[in-house]
Amino acid sequence: MAQGIIENARESITGKNLKIVLPEGNDPRVLEAALRHKEDGILTPIVLGDQGEIQKTADQAGLKLGDLKIINPKYYEGFEELVDAFVEARKGKTTREEAEFLLRTNPNYFGVLLVKTGLVDGMVSGARHTTGDTIRPALQIIRTKPGVKRVSGIMVMVSPEGKQLIFADTAVNITLESDELAEVAIETAKSAETFGIDPYVALLSFSTHGSAHHDLATKVAKAKEVAKQLAPDLRVDGEIQFDAAIDPETAKQKAPDSEVAGKANVFIFPDLQAGNIGYKIAQRLGGYKALGPILQGLNAPVNDLSRGCSAQDVYDICMITASQAL
Ligand SMILES: CC(C)(COP(=O)(O)OP(=O)(O)OC[C@H]1O[C@@H](n2cnc3c(N)ncnc32)[C@H](O)[C@@H]1OP(=O)(O)O)[C@@H](O)C(=O)NCCC(=O)NCCS
Repeated sequence: MAQGIIENARESITGKNLKIVLPEGNDPRVLEAALRHKEDGILTPIVLGDQGEIQKTADQAGLKLGDLKIINPKYYEGFEELVDAFVEARKGKTTREEAEFLLRTNPNYFGVLLVKTGLVDGMVSGARHTTGDTIRPALQIIRTKPGVKRVSGIMVMVSPEGKQLIFADTAVNITLESDELAEVAIETAKSAETFGIDPYVALLSFSTHGSAHHDLATKVAKAKEVAKQLAPDLRVDGEIQFDAAIDPETAKQKAPDSEVAGKANVFIFPDLQAGNIGYKIAQRLGGYKALGPILQGLNAPVNDLSRGCSAQDVYDICMITASQAL
């Protein structure tokens, strides 16, 4: 895993006693990660689910629950306050009956309401739920932080030699307009800084500085203009091809005057198909480790796991999530 980022997160959260809710208490990987956190004491894990079912999952996986904190949403004593907060946050879009139903039946909504009401600092879910089902409750209830219109998702990609790159948006927005791409570029650069990476941002395309003429390339070029207007100090270039962005020799040919070409370490893909395919190619063919997706732009941290995640991934993402809460 991305040792630098994980270590930074561990350092920043130590001693802060942050609480992370894990709604998928019936998943053995989630339970194992929660128990390891309980044991390590860097953060406090809280798992959701039925005590008896969780005990069964633990027995089958050879895990000892000890005094791990478990909340069963069905018997939660503060249930009515969560319903109130749900209805209030939805401002007329969800009725009280709908809120009660969702809080009883969908642990992601329950977890998000614990975050919203400040009872926990963040949520990690998605070992058993799709990305959409994991993040929709957060989008609806936690919503974006001030000044941000779109939540987006990044992957931290770590090369076999330990070099760290950031890819976005690999998780949330299926398509983005120029101003939205610009916002993702700015937010991703901020996330990169949080993770200790000095950002050089490439807005990727099949064209470099007008080498091809198409509306899709123009959209990316416009995103760079918007990003520069909004964040004049941001080192950002686009539209630019991946080879010109990453390879100094190609950069000399294709974009000799660029402050980013050949040095890029933050890559903004033009849409979700490109972003998601791109990170998987780096992972499967390039041997890069992929950490994430890590969501950015939310008012409080919620992160999505891949359904193929390991207990170690869950453990690591809990620390990243806690660090985002600071
Ligand atoms: C994120 C996603 C689930 C939202 O889908 P949806 O539920 O159909 O979206 P809706 O348009 O109904 O939006 C639901 C709410 O979230 C908000 N929302 C949607 N996308 C958002 C975004 N990127 N940022 C902030 N808010 C967003 C909407 O404004 C809406 O709020 P409202 O209910 O208060 O009006 C959808 O974009 C999606 O499935 N994305 C791809 C996920 C995926 O498969 N990723 C690849 C695997 S990692």
